[in-house]
Amino acid sequence: MKLTGKVAIVTGAASGIGRASAVAFAREGAKVVVADLSNSGAEETARFICSEGAEALPIEVDVSSEADVRRMVEETAARWGRIDILFNNAGVLLVKPVEQMTEAEWDRVMGVNVKGSFLAVKHVVPHMRRGGGGTILNTGSIASLSGQVGTPAYSASKGAIALLTKSLALDLGRDKIRVNCICPGITDTPMLREHLGHGAEGEARIKARLSRVPLGEILRPEDVARAALYLVSDDSAGITGVLHVVDAGLTAAAEFDEPLK
Ligand SMILES: NC(=O)c1ccc[n+]([C@@H]2O[C@H](COP(=O)([O-])OP(=O)(O)OC[C@H]3O[C@@H](n4cnc5c(N)ncnc54)[C@H](O)[C@@H]3O)[C@@H](O)[C@H]2O)c1
Repeated sequence: MKLTGKVAIVTGAASGIGRASAVAFAREGAKVVVADLSNSGAEETARFICSEGAEALPIEVDVSSEADVRRMVEETAARWGRIDILFNNAGVLLVKPVEQMTEAEWDRVMGVNVKGSFLAVKHVVPHMRRGGGGTILNTGSIASLSGQVGTPAYSASKGAIALLTKSLALDLGRDKIRVNCICPGITDTPMLREHLGHGAEGEARIKARLSRVPLGEILRPEDVARAALYLVSDDSAGITGVLHVVDAGLTAAAEFDEPLK
């Protein structure tokens, strides 16, 4: 077991990558706070973890609200007395060109994807210092590395996460707090389905995208969760400030357009 005795907060854990990661961390012995805007989804994830014999605490939180984040951290510390791992994974997507985007829409994407990570780090770090260290993992995207069509606010937010990660790695290194960023590629979650559409049209879009992916397969949330587990555990001791890409080869290519086998 890689996370025995550790306490982890996973945001966005009601769904997709966050849920798979919360389950993966709990299977390795962590006590997991399942934090999400969706209370019912968080409860469902927590119930599943508990049904496997591990410990989980669901907390309803809007990560863009400092009051909510403070409460989430206080409830975690009150329940388990320490915080070792923070996975800032909650995120929202917005597919909209800038000239159609409202100020409120821009602020929401930045508020959840960027400010949400800042707030959680701000409130968790004092607990990690007290405990002698910790690991923070932020969810970026392949959009942290290069532009993505039709999603300027989302891409800007994921670019910000990349350098927030590196800056925090410098500021927190002496406190033995490692900070890394995981950059998933095309991963089969509700967010991806919302992005590319449902039904036959959505499937066709996914297939077209996969023609540009060397491994030719859609990632499962569990694939990303396994890499997240590596980055929050001692297996990655010595690694801080990195962008860890999990994209089935997509960003390795300057050009790649092969038929799927
Ligand atoms: N699916 C992909 O292809 C992909 C690719 C790259 C990066 N990502 C990133 O992975 C992360 C997880 O996304 P996913 O694909 O699992 O999507 P998802 O929609 O399945 O999960 C996102 C979760 O975040 C929660 N959330 C949204 N706003 C919140 C808020 N304000 N406070 C708390 N929780 C909130 C949602 O309720 C949801 O449960 C996101 O940061 C996303 O940008 C996803």
